[in-house]
Amino acid sequence: MIIDNVLSTAKAMVADHKGILAIDESPISCNKRFAEVGIPQTECFRKDYRELIITTPHLSNYISSVILCDETTKEERQDGTSFIKYIIDSGIIPGVKVDRGERELAGYNGEKITEGIDGLRERLAIYAQKGIRFAKWRAEIIIGNSIPTSGCIDANAHLLARYAALCQEAGLVPIVEPEVTMNGHHTLERCKKVTAEVLHSVFNQLYRQKVVLEGIILKPNMVISGLECSVQASINEVADATINCLLQSVPAAVAGIAFLSGGQSCQLASANLNAMNKKYKSKLPWPLTFSYARAIQQPAIEIWQGKKLNIEEAQAELLHRAQCNYSARRGEYDKHSDKY
Ligand code: 13P
Repeated sequence: MIIDNVLSTAKAMVADHKGILAIDESPISCNKRFAEVGIPQTECFRKDYRELIITTPHLSNYISSVILCDETTKEERQDGTSFIKYIIDSGIIPGVKVDRGERELAGYNGEKITEGIDGLRERLAIYAQKGIRFAKWRAEIIIGNSIPTSGCIDANAHLLARYAALCQEAGLVPIVEPEVTMNGHHTLERCKKVTAEVLHSVFNQLYRQKVVLEGIILKPNMVISGLECSVQASINEVADATINCLLQSVPAAVAGIAFLSGGQSCQLASANLNAMNKKYKSKLPWPLTFSYARAIQQPAIEIWQGKKLNIEEAQAELLHRAQCNYSARRGEYDKHSDKY
């Protein structure tokens, strides 16, 4: 049965204290990261960078799965091996981001809606044939003066649920990513209230679209203070607020929760995940892990700078961050011995 494959993939994605590495930035977003550190913004450099990441020795000790972007699913190594095959042969599960990014939601001032649902069934079938076993769809929810509105939250939740149902039909695990972004002056309490409202809407829609919760991974934001808020919550406060919010909003049947880093520093993203697991792990119905992009990749991209000479050092740093987050999943991360 197709759904049995979905359930076993979801379990494998969160097994053995490992986490998920997101390298699914669109060419535009990847180019932005390259521009920040002076790397040329070409397909060739993007390909070299992705190859650097997936060929990092021992990556599968800490990483169960990687999320690719469409461009990377079509790339091959010099010997003709596709990146997807290389990833599978390394013992890592390949997935792909299938949404087509956020646009202005018509009639709603400054709020976003995610595009990409048209033709998704056909695209998923092609990915499944290539060996892809899960997908990702991100919805962006912004906190500001009188936003988010329930109209925006419900529209995004509905699309996340339609996407998730199509993934399960195709035998793929949907990563469901409703991200309440951290930009803004809002407090921890406001982030918690909005996150809870978003999650309630998402699970209501998942239920209505008959999505099997044991076959999804939820990828939420942590509950944190807005970047410009004058009072920044402590690691302990973030852990308490995030767990309290998730326990009130996420059904126990969900296969796993894998946080995004959202722009937190590498160390903070590890420390926050660690605090949650250290204090609450034994009391939670779902495994709590990571699905970070920037909080794993940032040091590696800065070290690499597009130069062959720096590949080994960049890979060592990437592996170090993966290992830090693997430790955080066990509640055993020590930020004092974390060099970055
Ligand atoms: P960050 O960890 O950099 O927030 O990225 C996660 C992600 O996949 C965003 O969609």
